[in-house]
Amino acid sequence: MQMILSQRILHFLCVLVILSLMSGCNKKIMDYEQVTPGEKIVLKFSHVVAEETPKGLAARKFAALVEKRTGGRVEIQVFPNSSLYADGEEIQALRSGAVHLIAPSTSKLSDLFPRWQLFDMPYFFEDTNDIHSAMRGSIGHTLYGDLEKGGIHPLAFWDNDFKQITNRIKPLKYPEDLKGLKFRTMINSTILEEQFRLLGAKPVQLKFNEVYSALSAQTIDGQENTMSNIVTQRFHEVQPYLTVSNHGFLGYVVMTDNKFWTQLPPDIRAIIEESMNEVTEWEREQARVINERDMTILKESGKVTIHIQSPEEKAEWKKALSGLENKLNDIVGPQFSNEIKNRSR
Ligand code: LMR
Repeated sequence: MQMILSQRILHFLCVLVILSLMSGCNKKIMDYEQVTPGEKIVLKFSHVVAEETPKGLAARKFAALVEKRTGGRVEIQVFPNSSLYADGEEIQALRSGAVHLIAPSTSKLSDLFPRWQLFDMPYFFEDTNDIHSAMRGSIGHTLYGDLEKGGIHPLAFWDNDFKQITNRIKPLKYPEDLKGLKFRTMINSTILEEQFRLLGAKPVQLKFNEVYSALSAQTIDGQENTMSNIVTQRFHEVQPYLTVSNHGFLGYVVMTDNKFWTQLPPDIRAIIEESMNEVTEWEREQARVINERDMTILKESGKVTIHIQSPEEKAEWKKALSGLENKLNDIVGPQFSNEIKNRSR
């Protein structure tokens, strides 16, 4: 009798241990299907740029729209300026459930999803229409598929703009002007590193929130970025030369964790998607307007000598960078590479 009793106790204890282990595994992702109607859902949206940038403004607008359309049931807290997570930490934070939405630049996806480096290619896309149409078609389908396979649910593709080059030493007109200079590149992209190597410069990968201090301490000589990032980070205060080169694109993927996404109630998912689509249209227009305005701010600041790359100079840069196409082929593989070459424009 006593033996049967202790077996039962043992069995009960085993069940308890298994149950507590299972609840430990589920801890990361809240089960939002279980959220009772009226119960509040709080989501964290982390990003690395200033609030007054296209991405910063769009994140806030998206949060306000979702809150309004869900009648306050969903609150999206936006954390700008790497205040929660910096470059290189965001995806891990998303996967662990510490944040629910991020919008890293495509370059920063490259270590996990190398094909996204396509957008780092200089002088490769005609304009933003060319990029949007690639994203709408089979190229975007493949790139989003890579994210899905990695457990990430993409919600939108946001623009910043084409990048310009700043430095502290001299006006940069021809590729040889970059020789020996140290340039910051975004983390994870081998295409960006190779781009600067082919121009004779030394690439240095740095997180976005470390760039201003590195420029001002002169541990690097220059960097590439959009007008809106240059202005909001005050790079122009320590970088007296700017070349308007429009060489490479800076865009973002707004994303969430797939497991988390599928656990949200379907009506909330629908509102998030609909709001995201609307804000994406708005964000793209804002990106155009803000970057144009910030070019004027830079001109009027009196702090930078601006050189606009001539068609002849551009041809020289393109020649110097022509080796990058082979590098891209190696990264993305022949099939995807052909798809890119044959894209409709
Ligand atoms: C950068 O690191 O320069 C950019 O990706 C920052 C951003 O998110 O626009």
